[in-house]
Amino acid sequence: MQRLIAGNWKMNKEMRQCKEYAESFNAYFKETMVEVLVCPPLPFVYYLARHLHPLVKLGAQDVAAFEPGPYTGEISATMARSVGCLYSIVGHSERRKYFGEDDKLINIKARLARQHAITPIICVGETSAQRKAGKAKAIVKKQVLSCTNKLAAPSFVIAYEPLWAIGTGKNAAPEQAEDMHAFIRQLLTKKYKGKGKDVRIIYGGSVTPENCVPLIRQKNVNGFLVGGVSLDAKRFCEIIAKCGM
Ligand code: PGA
Repeated sequence: MQRLIAGNWKMNKEMRQCKEYAESFNAYFKETMVEVLVCPPLPFVYYLARHLHPLVKLGAQDVAAFEPGPYTGEISATMARSVGCLYSIVGHSERRKYFGEDDKLINIKARLARQHAITPIICVGETSAQRKAGKAKAIVKKQVLSCTNKLAAPSFVIAYEPLWAIGTGKNAAPEQAEDMHAFIRQLLTKKYKGKGKDVRIIYGGSVTPENCVPLIRQKNVNGFLVGGVSLDAKRFCEIIAKCGM
């Protein structure tokens, strides 16, 4: 299956920096077998869709849980699609933490995205306390099954992002990631039979050009969701290049 390397800019950069980023990215980027996705803040999507290398796809970091209408401040899946988003992250741990999003809401968002031809990247992952208490798999199982309710496989991506690895510089060890990814694969094949094998399960949490190779070599690690490092075009391109080998 084709690997997916996605960058999540979170709430970073301004318009002027998008221009610099596009120039720098295009200078470092080499054509590759992996699918490359950049998820910037939505105001920048329209510009980046026209200025980044044509092989790069654009995605949103979130979509509204409603169809267009009186929902001040929200951006619908239809709108994201109309400016060029082919993917949307949903249920990122920062959305869960700061905006109170739960599995039920995330599932609504994922289904709406799907209805408007956007592939949802559904984020799951346990906290450090949950892992220490031996509850990591139970937590992830509940998140995966609830968030994929009424979704068909393989029309979504799962991003396993342990909270203790996000933005901490402490990535999951390759065996730890594979252990959880294999577990998620098992859940998906049980739920979707043969089609569960085709769902991409990507890893996120302190991925860098230095640690990405042993992680991507794991059987069930089908790509990455890269936060901090994706803000640096040169380093993000290094990850893309290493995953295309
Ligand atoms: P990080 O973020 O790569 O900065 O750890 C990953 C994410 O939150 O998607």
